[in-house]
Amino acid sequence: MGSFAMPGKKLYITDTTLRDAHQSQAATRMRTEDMLPVCDILDNIGYWSLECWGGATFDACIRFLNEDPWERLRALRKALKNTKMQMLLRGQNLLGYRHYADDVVEAFCAKSIENGIDIIRVFDALNDVRNMEQAIKSIKKNGAGCEATICYTASPVHNEEYFVHLAATLVNMGADTICVKDMANLLLPMDAYSLIKKIKEEVNVPLHLHTHNTTGTGSMVYFMAAAAGVDIIDCALSPFANGTSQPATESMVAAFAGTPRDTELDQKKLSEAAAHFMKVAQRMEEEGILNSKVLRIDTNTLCNQVPGGMLSNLFSQLKQVHAEERLDEVLQEVPLVRADFGYPPLVTPTSQIVGTQAVMNVLTGERYKCFTKESKMLLKGEYGFLPGEVEESVRKKAIGDEEVITCRPADLLEPEMEHLKRESEMFAHSEEDVLTYALFPQVAPDFLRKKYERRKAEEIHEINVVWNI
Ligand code: CO
Repeated sequence: MGSFAMPGKKLYITDTTLRDAHQSQAATRMRTEDMLPVCDILDNIGYWSLECWGGATFDACIRFLNEDPWERLRALRKALKNTKMQMLLRGQNLLGYRHYADDVVEAFCAKSIENGIDIIRVFDALNDVRNMEQAIKSIKKNGAGCEATICYTASPVHNEEYFVHLAATLVNMGADTICVKDMANLLLPMDAYSLIKKIKEEVNVPLHLHTHNTTGTGSMVYFMAAAAGVDIIDCALSPFANGTSQPATESMVAAFAGTPRDTELDQKKLSEAAAHFMKVAQRMEEEGILNSKVLRIDTNTLCNQVPGGMLSNLFSQLKQVHAEERLDEVLQEVPLVRADFGYPPLVTPTSQIVGTQAVMNVLTGERYKCFTKESKMLLKGEYGFLPGEVEESVRKKAIGDEEVITCRPADLLEPEMEHLKRESEMFAHSEEDVLTYALFPQVAPDFLRKKYERRKAEEIHEINVVWNI
């Protein structure tokens, strides 16, 4: 190993093919039927965990795929008997785009775990730990592993000391593992080495690193993190790897084979699973879901800090109004909006908020001519503390003389489960349905109505078959 002293312990891998990989490359359009045939192989590879739910998958299921995400979860659980199933949760936002009251957070965590989730990776876009408090409590209370997350970003206010302190705080709050989430692949290899080493010195729980290969440094980042003693890394199988997605599982496994950080994963099974996903990727390319543009290394991201998922969203936002050619202008506007907004890390939902504001600033031809409701909420403190200083002239334009919130945002919310149940009683037939409605109130009523109509039609059909009608 030359002068690198690799710590002598197995390196663990979480595979993201079923969640982040297709969210980053293919607008989250992988279907349950694309997943189930390969679960038996995946289940016997020996991963630390399979990230397979949460993030944008819930939204994509009901909005685009006409699938019930809870049914997907149960089907995956049935098919994955040996492997821990992991999901991504946006703290007090759950999988939606607003803050929910604590009782909804509790109910959602309880139901996710009851339906099969083993590990919940929880983060807050602003790294405001108060927005993770209730989720951490609920995850632990309901018996799942709690992976509390640091959103990595670069800015004048985000330095090593800040991240190390955050890691220690999250462990004190009850985290079982800590994840450094480098959603935009901004973490550079030598910085990763230093940061991982410092966090490992400070905290005593397994450390998990999540990056993408958007800027082409992803596997180098993992290599240096492994040298610094990181415990777990996130990878995706080659057909859905690289570019805006994670570095390839097979490459990382091969790179560490025979070293003190051997992953001990079965390479033959990995290639069998990859062969399956190659067919899925080819179909998605034919359907135009998988755009080869997101596979290209984009070093501009090192300047504009736009994460993979956000890049493909901005592109489709512009495409809808036939303004694709203005992508470069928007990408230049994003860091300016981010600075004005106090340097929030760019991750859901702040990536959407900053991204949409940048699109509006460019398309209207005048900066801050209009604000979205979400931009106003962010500047008002309704999402939590902004890490840096906000440009006051922009804030004033957005919210006028309204007072900025400084308490834990969810403290302002009354319990809402009972109300949500009443509101959805015409189309929700389980607590899972109520939670679907809570997360996506615009899409869920129609989705749920149709789901039950379909089910009824299927039942009638079955009865007819039985009676030979
Ligand atoms: Co990611």
